Amino acid sequence: MKGELLKVYYYCAVVVVVIINGVVDGAASTSSKHKGKGGSGRGICSCYFVFGDSQADNGNNNDMLEREYGRARADYKPYGIDFSSSSSSYIPTGRFTNARNVPDFIAKFLGFDDYIPPFRTTKSRTILKGANYASGGAGILRETGRTLGQVSSIKKQLENHNYTISQMHTLLGSSSKINRYLKECLYTVQIGSNDYLNNYFMPKIYMTSTQYSPQAFATALNKNLSQHLKNLYNYGARKVAIFGVGSIGCTPYARENFEHTGLPCVDEINSAIQLFNSGLKSLVQHLNANLPSAKFTFIDVFQISTVDPLNYGKMVLDAPCCEVGAGAMQCSPFGKVCKNRGDYMFWDGVHPTESGFKLVASRAFNAKQPGEAYPFDINHLVHLS
Ligand SMILES: *[C@@H]1O[C@H](CO)[C@@H](O)[C@H](O)[C@H]1NC(C)=O
Ligand SMILES: *[C@@H]1O[C@H](CO)[C@@H](O)[C@H](O)[C@H]1NC(C)=O
Repeated sequence: MKGELLKVYYYCAVVVVVIINGVVDGAASTSSKHKGKGGSGRGICSCYFVFGDSQADNGNNNDMLEREYGRARADYKPYGIDFSSSSSSYIPTGRFTNARNVPDFIAKFLGFDDYIPPFRTTKSRTILKGANYASGGAGILRETGRTLGQVSSIKKQLENHNYTISQMHTLLGSSSKINRYLKECLYTVQIGSNDYLNNYFMPKIYMTSTQYSPQAFATALNKNLSQHLKNLYNYGARKVAIFGVGSIGCTPYARENFEHTGLPCVDEINSAIQLFNSGLKSLVQHLNANLPSAKFTFIDVFQISTVDPLNYGKMVLDAPCCEVGAGAMQCSPFGKVCKNRGDYMFWDGVHPTESGFKLVASRAFNAKQPGEAYPFDINHLVHLS
């Protein structure tokens, strides 16, 4: 394994704080340029709609009937311990990390004063700013995550978006006004991880791994997602960033529960993910070529989340920060947490700490390497006319 360059990948990314600070400062200075110009209708983004899974969810699952902790809900301690200033008397929001997630950072880079509210709580005029439909445990396939409770698949999230749009009639008037509004908004989609970790690689519960080869499964997911993305386009979306799946074969959960003889990551999982990601990149090209004025872009989270531990010094790559029970993905309720959270790549068994989310968001917004965002990063995307 080329000893000195032992590459470690992880779910959706991770990083050393020192590096991130540089990256984020860059992104933040760009975003401050937009401040105050939102809503001018000159190609600057004043609305942002979020679709996805637990990487993006900010509380949509909090009302789920299933109240068991760890079943696709994160509105229990220690989740959110660093979200507000007080770490002793805080109320967890439902974010699947210690503080902010990817859409929180993107909203900040775009110059929004606050995060985009969860669909569950949106009302009246706030919908003009956008909504977050993401649901932890959700996937592209409807059955994905069903063991976790009533999660909202991507299809359900689009239905919720249709409802939001219907509410815009009283605020904006005609359909043509609404469409003119919606085409300037930013849309991000982060989905697919659960179709692997909570479906294909859960053979005791799901049959997919006996029915599909990894390539056939990736193709089926790509095809299915393609239909949903066309629907999103038909609802008026034009500027859409699609996030690929991160290297979930390197999460503490995967390392704990799957064979990975001699390697730091579970190769079988990462290879399957790569097939999905490469199909997704082709899909983006296809949509841009075939849908008039579509501006889709692919964010290569797998590439962004590739970390060389030698450059990352004492960063803890192989253990979660919070206490995670045997075979579990999420933090044990009210369990212990590490003190030096900035030194940990992983918050729980599968989700990065805020530091990791910040890295992905920063690179998605201002790409540093070729291929991290294809054909363009989000900062470029929101400025296109
Ligand atoms: C979207 O909502 C409208 C009601 O505002 C409804 O007539 C239409 O059928 C919905 N479309 C889909 C695809 O569900
Ligand atoms: C997506 O998958 C679901 C089953 O999970 C299926 O019912 C649906 O027809 C698929 N859609 C496409 C476009 O393949």
